[in-house]
Amino acid sequence: MWQKVAILSVFVIISLVRGNPVDNLLHNDGIEETKFGVPEKFSKVLAIDEPTTYRLPNDSYPISYDIFLVTDIHKGNFDFQGNVMIKTEIKEATNKITLHYRQIEIKLVTVFVAEPLEPIDGTSFDLIPSHEFLVINLPRIFEVGSELLIHIGYSGRLRDDGAGFYWGSYNNSAGETKFYGATQFEVTDARHAFPCYDEPGIRAIMTLTIVYDKSYTALANTEVFIEELEEETNYKITTFAPTPVMQTYLLAFAISDYEYVNATDTRIPQRIFGTPMAIKEGRGNFAATVVGPILHKLEEVLNVLYPLSKMDHIALTKFNFGAMENMGLITYIERGLLLNPALSESATYNQQNSIISLVTHEYAHQWFGDIISPKWWQYTWLNEGFATLFANYIPSLVYPERAAMRSFFSSTIQTAFNSDGPNAWSMNHYTEIPDELWNKFGGIGYQKSGCVLRMMMEVMTAPVFLKGLNYYLNENYMKAATPTELHTGLQTAYDAAFPEKPLMIGDIMYSWEDQAGYPLLTVRVGKNNTIFSQTRYPVHNGEVYAIPITYATKSNPDFSVRTPKLWLPVPTFGFTPEQTGYTDGDWMVVNIDQVGYYRVDYSSVLWRANIAQLNDDCTVINPLNRALLLDEFYLGWTQFRRVGGADAIKILSYMGKEDEFLAWARGQRIFNDLRNHLFDTLAHEKFYELIQEITKPHLNVLGYEGFDGENSNRTSLRSYVKQWNCQAFDNDCFIHENEKFMNFYNNGQEGATNFDFCFAMRTIDETTFGQLLAIVVSDKDFVNRGRYIQYFGCSLNHENLKKLLKITLDEGNNLENDEIQTILTSTYSNSRDGLTLALSFLDDNYMKLKPITNLTAIIENLINYMNTQRSADKIFALANKFEAAQIISKKFNEEIVTKVGEMEKWIDTNIFDILDYFGVEIPTAEPTTPTAAPTTVDPTASTTTEGPTTTQAPTTTASPSTTPASAQSVFISISLIAVCGIVNLMKLL
Ligand SMILES: *[C@@H]1O[C@H](CO)[C@@H](O)[C@H](O)[C@H]1NC(C)=O
Ligand SMILES: *[C@@H]1O[C@H](CO)[C@@H](O)[C@H](O)[C@H]1NC(C)=O
Ligand SMILES: [Zn+2]
Repeated sequence: MWQKVAILSVFVIISLVRGNPVDNLLHNDGIEETKFGVPEKFSKVLAIDEPTTYRLPNDSYPISYDIFLVTDIHKGNFDFQGNVMIKTEIKEATNKITLHYRQIEIKLVTVFVAEPLEPIDGTSFDLIPSHEFLVINLPRIFEVGSELLIHIGYSGRLRDDGAGFYWGSYNNSAGETKFYGATQFEVTDARHAFPCYDEPGIRAIMTLTIVYDKSYTALANTEVFIEELEEETNYKITTFAPTPVMQTYLLAFAISDYEYVNATDTRIPQRIFGTPMAIKEGRGNFAATVVGPILHKLEEVLNVLYPLSKMDHIALTKFNFGAMENMGLITYIERGLLLNPALSESATYNQQNSIISLVTHEYAHQWFGDIISPKWWQYTWLNEGFATLFANYIPSLVYPERAAMRSFFSSTIQTAFNSDGPNAWSMNHYTEIPDELWNKFGGIGYQKSGCVLRMMMEVMTAPVFLKGLNYYLNENYMKAATPTELHTGLQTAYDAAFPEKPLMIGDIMYSWEDQAGYPLLTVRVGKNNTIFSQTRYPVHNGEVYAIPITYATKSNPDFSVRTPKLWLPVPTFGFTPEQTGYTDGDWMVVNIDQVGYYRVDYSSVLWRANIAQLNDDCTVINPLNRALLLDEFYLGWTQFRRVGGADAIKILSYMGKEDEFLAWARGQRIFNDLRNHLFDTLAHEKFYELIQEITKPHLNVLGYEGFDGENSNRTSLRSYVKQWNCQAFDNDCFIHENEKFMNFYNNGQEGATNFDFCFAMRTIDETTFGQLLAIVVSDKDFVNRGRYIQYFGCSLNHENLKKLLKITLDEGNNLENDEIQTILTSTYSNSRDGLTLALSFLDDNYMKLKPITNLTAIIENLINYMNTQRSADKIFALANKFEAAQIISKKFNEEIVTKVGEMEKWIDTNIFDILDYFGVEIPTAEPTTPTAAPTTVDPTASTTTEGPTTTQAPTTTASPSTTPASAQSVFISISLIAVCGIVNLMKLL
């Protein structure tokens, strides 16, 4: 039925454009360069009030479009001519029809009564540029149900910004520039190619005809329906089969001399298009093997067939996004679809993963976005959330060895949390403001929504969730939807599968969709109950989410069950041991694989039990949850003070047995904090010994060097382990890097291998150092010097460092001011000896350095290395001198004192614990003030079930507190550290 209508109007339009009055628009080679924007004569707003909304009125609705475009893009001519015939139905009696347009010149508007075809005299039109509305005024009111045909003749220019109907180019193998025309209509650029009802919830059948040079090929959403050659003009006229009832933003076409490769193993014909050279080089061959299996898997799991009879994938040299899910014609940025032949084996593997993921993302949209579209951009997440989920889920089924679901943990949820801060929008947030629509396509629309959907998939189990999607797709096939329709589909499947466990899917999902942010789940255990509490993190405005709680415990260490054991739809609730299965003293790991969209704040008791288990046998806990523990430990330590410095050491100390690189990645912040703060303290040496102990076993297995074709997880693991090992001053690491460097130094490029310059400099001998330094500072080329200058300060040799500092003031070096600054920074930041030397150097030479370096920046940065009274006293003295010499202001000097105080606070809070753990004896020196002696917490002050094991006063409320329990806190006088510092127990290497 709809085909007939469409075909009929194709002929109407072709006969219209071939006769007068638009004929001259078509074959006019002398077209003027039209300027963009709306021509002056149209831009006046006539007697129409400024619209109050950017949304179209609902008084008419399109049935079909016949679009007729003429382009000479093969000549690099960017002008195009357009005609569109819109068949529309009046839905509310009206004498106006409102359409969208953008950056085109409307030449002619004629309206017909559709049946019998009869022109309506006396129509006119107004343009409202601010809203991009084209308003057609009819001479009389048309009643509901009237069908009209609107013919609009217009001209435009292909855009160069990759949006709307735009042009791109590439250089072919003969070095000639070749032009092509392509489209990108989402969000609101279809209206640039043709006036239309440009909203995602409005659908119509579209029949496209393109007139272009016969040396080119035109592609569109559907297959070619009729193709004719006009002998005398060399134009090809291609009419594509009518589309299904489709949203305007999904229409796509491309006119190019691209070539293609056929996909293999595919139910329908699929082609991969690229520049002739790329196709010849076989760069499309990988994609050609994956598009079929991905299509089949989506059809299988959703049990709804892809609706068209073909799919084309085209890799465009100019494209603003990764890819676009146009029904039947997916457009990609080149590297999103075509393999780069120059990559190493492991980089190729990674690019393959991203091609698989991108293809799957766009393919998933054929159902979520294309078959079902959101009623309005408010629900963009109904498209992007599913595309995010399936871009990982489908590859995990088709290519299980690529472990695609891991990226939810390693990146998707991280991006989601980062996007979902205090000022974030909710998933269902409404906006119609054009500039804001793009924000619906950010971390909330993609990643958060993907995480929430994934959480629901695990809540319902994958088969039931997919069955629910099948209901949703069938019920709303080729229609627009809102989340309510999704909930209904999911509920139907859930009720059928689990009648004995009723769940209100809609209520659960709305709690995540309508409220911005994510919760922090606090877990506290007592003898009689386990209390779960939630607050939105980090700011709370009374949000309550329906949280599915999963966990494993010592008595039930099963990490494979990801359906919720408990629900927390209220702010706080205490569950009995019968409900939780938790036995006093057990460890408990919550949020298996971080499937739940929330973070966890464990009580001190649980942290200690969990850390003990990690050290005892970490393999009992699954790898992703071990990584998650390291991640959440950092929150518990730095934000909620559930744990202290010794716990931080203890949680790192199990890592000699940790093979999961993500755990090393997540442990990075703990390691960095300890390293920075323990620098120059009594605990320094013991800490480095520990890091060496946990890294050495891994290096013994993995070796120092990777090899091509190595598993990328193994490469990542080595990279973390080696970094930590070297940063812990392991001599073996330095020797290894130094050997590689010396090989390079002696043999030039031939000996070059990848070495870490800083680590190579650690053990460099004085002769080589002197030679290299002399060469570098006398080199006249800034770029050459820049390769080395920041690494000299890494040396651990006292004489080398002295020489390095001295040379900055020598006459005749070629160093520029910021290079001198770099040398100073690299000296004090890389070793204790360097810090001491740099401080004295600054003290002796600040007047000479004043004109050539930024001493303010230096002293500000130095604060980060002030962990002892000894160095703090030096910086205070220096700051006073700087103030006297008017290098810094009095106010800045005071700020320095405050900031050093913050460093001091960290030491205060953590160091006793740490020294005690390491068994480092604190020298019994006279503290400057007697009250400053360390005291321990009185554990009986605790009123919670936490018990006496905590050394921090736990909070007594259910919600996490970010205030340190200052009344009870361990106070250690900085002067005591000073005494320790003076004793100088530590010798670096
Ligand atoms: C692709 O497959 C079609 C149908 O089998 C065939 O006609 C065409 O020649 C093939 N094209 C290429 C480039 O392999
Ligand atoms: C815990 O349960 C025991 C036994 O049921 C009871 O005697 C005790 O009073 C309870 N403790 C608390 C703090 O409720
Ligand atoms: Zn998408």
